[in-house]
Amino acid sequence: MCGIIGYIGAKQSPQFLLNALQRLEYRGYDSCGVAGLRDKKTQKVFLKKIKGKIISLQEQLKGKTGLELDVGIAHTRWATHGIPNHINAHPHYDSERNTFVVHNGIIENYKELKDSLIKKGHKFVSQTDTEVIPHLIAECARRNGFIEGLFEAVHALKGSFAIVLFHKDEEKLFFARKDSPLTVGILKEGYLLASDVPAVCGLTRKIVPLEDETVGVLTKDTLTLYNFSGVKRKSHQEEVKMSAQHIEKKHYSHFMLKEIFEQPRVARDLYSFYVKKGHIHFKDLHLAAHYLASLHKIFIFACGTAYHAGLVAKYFLEKYAKIDVEIDVSSEARYRNVSLKKDDLVIAISQSGETADTLACIKEAKKKGVKVLGICNVLGSTLTKESHGIIYTLAGPEIGVASTKAYTAQIFSLYLFALYLAGLKKVLKAKEITQCVEELKKISEYQASILNHMEHIKKISKKFSKFGCFLFLGRGINYPSALEGALKLKEISYIPAEGYPAGEMKHGPIALIDEYRAVVCIAPFDSLYEKMISNMQEIKARKGKVLAILNTGDKEAALLSNEKIFLPMLKNQDLDPLLIALPLQLFAYFVAKNLGCEIDQPRNLAKSVTVE
Ligand code: M6R
Repeated sequence: MCGIIGYIGAKQSPQFLLNALQRLEYRGYDSCGVAGLRDKKTQKVFLKKIKGKIISLQEQLKGKTGLELDVGIAHTRWATHGIPNHINAHPHYDSERNTFVVHNGIIENYKELKDSLIKKGHKFVSQTDTEVIPHLIAECARRNGFIEGLFEAVHALKGSFAIVLFHKDEEKLFFARKDSPLTVGILKEGYLLASDVPAVCGLTRKIVPLEDETVGVLTKDTLTLYNFSGVKRKSHQEEVKMSAQHIEKKHYSHFMLKEIFEQPRVARDLYSFYVKKGHIHFKDLHLAAHYLASLHKIFIFACGTAYHAGLVAKYFLEKYAKIDVEIDVSSEARYRNVSLKKDDLVIAISQSGETADTLACIKEAKKKGVKVLGICNVLGSTLTKESHGIIYTLAGPEIGVASTKAYTAQIFSLYLFALYLAGLKKVLKAKEITQCVEELKKISEYQASILNHMEHIKKISKKFSKFGCFLFLGRGINYPSALEGALKLKEISYIPAEGYPAGEMKHGPIALIDEYRAVVCIAPFDSLYEKMISNMQEIKARKGKVLAILNTGDKEAALLSNEKIFLPMLKNQDLDPLLIALPLQLFAYFVAKNLGCEIDQPRNLAKSVTVE
């Protein structure tokens, strides 16, 4: 969950590394640090670590001269082992202060390694799992030299890691990765290593993606890759399309707001990329039509917001493609005996493509010979490499920790996939599919019209910011909308919020309702509308304060609501989640803003959950 950077090339200030690191801050932001080789003759190493964000470190280094580095590493942390403070911040080093390491991942056997290294005289200063790495390498290197020590160490480490390191006597940068992402960016002069592609954007478009279980050595002008057994690997260069402009906030006060407003553009892009003359084409699907046509069962694995998109997809797939769908959050699925059979399909949904639990699920599926379809936003991410087929969600970089545009893009893509499958299985006629696809064309316009009502939503949010507890209720395809609305609110405003299927209200949550509780009722004019009206009556009878998401012209439900947000009525109401998400995102955004919360980087969270 941390962000790591490595640099080798012409002398650069630590600020250079920190600027690149800042693009990874969404991965963690409780402490940070930078280290580098200042002078190889005098072997002077520069090291600075602090508790807090990169901007504080940048301020502390402002105006300091003579710190130029030929080789450097930097780290922004999301604490797993040990509280966020400057001692636990990375880089970490061995007892002699020769080897300096930054790490993303978790070393599961760190305790055992630490105990044995302490017995051999190593002195530890932090509570982190990471600190065993430089000590272990130093210990192993004593026998056979540094690079051999590194190979020995990667075999001894259990868990996941992306590490970047240097030794004060060598003008080289070393790295290794196992189950944790790392990319090499090729600069005009030298190289930049980073956990994710965004950090290299703006500096270069040329990258070398790294296979899992790779060790590498960089000099100013050479890159050498090995597998964990020390056998050389070929490297291949790729071009990234993303540029620095994609990851700028522009005039928006937060990335989250910018990303909410990008949704109509994303819907347009998805439509024009995947629909040609009313027909659906997936360019990277790579799954044979006869295999898909004979499918009987699909398993969906995902986490958080992606899981909510998966719940909507289950509805689409069952309804349109008439196929059995099982869905589970990846962290549960990976530890239960999911009965996957060879001819089933696994759909893994992930914005980042780096979520550890989801990747573990697909590893397991592949072991059983099951095909995997990844629904992913990040080109070149591990999910895209490990899946048999991919549908890219084309939302562009999502920087705000709270997922917004990626969610609606996942739903949009999965609706298209359900229709595509329905065509292959011949459960829908070509004409019916074209009709369903046509309805997607207008989604971006509708989304834009909702965003035009931002000021109204802002006003409502102000009134509702005082509530200390929220219930979000929906039914059918909008039960996932309720879950997603509640998740958005709690993750950025820290207000307890629960999403529930409205029909479950009488089985417990109704006990919460009184005049001090707020209930968000999602009640469009769909087949379950009357049921939602009854639920709203019950809430009103108990003096709960209702914010309703309704279709334009709904007078009945409006009378039962304290505040309402009206949405355009769609011909195909199965697409409602693509609209309903927007006011719920804006609502969460403005409540959090009213409460003075840190919207793009909420406490305790990170954008990619790359550890369990
Ligand atoms: O990158 P992924 O889509 O795999 O991430 C899954 C979740 O971690 C993510 O959706 C998380 O729940 C977001 N913070 C929600 O806004």
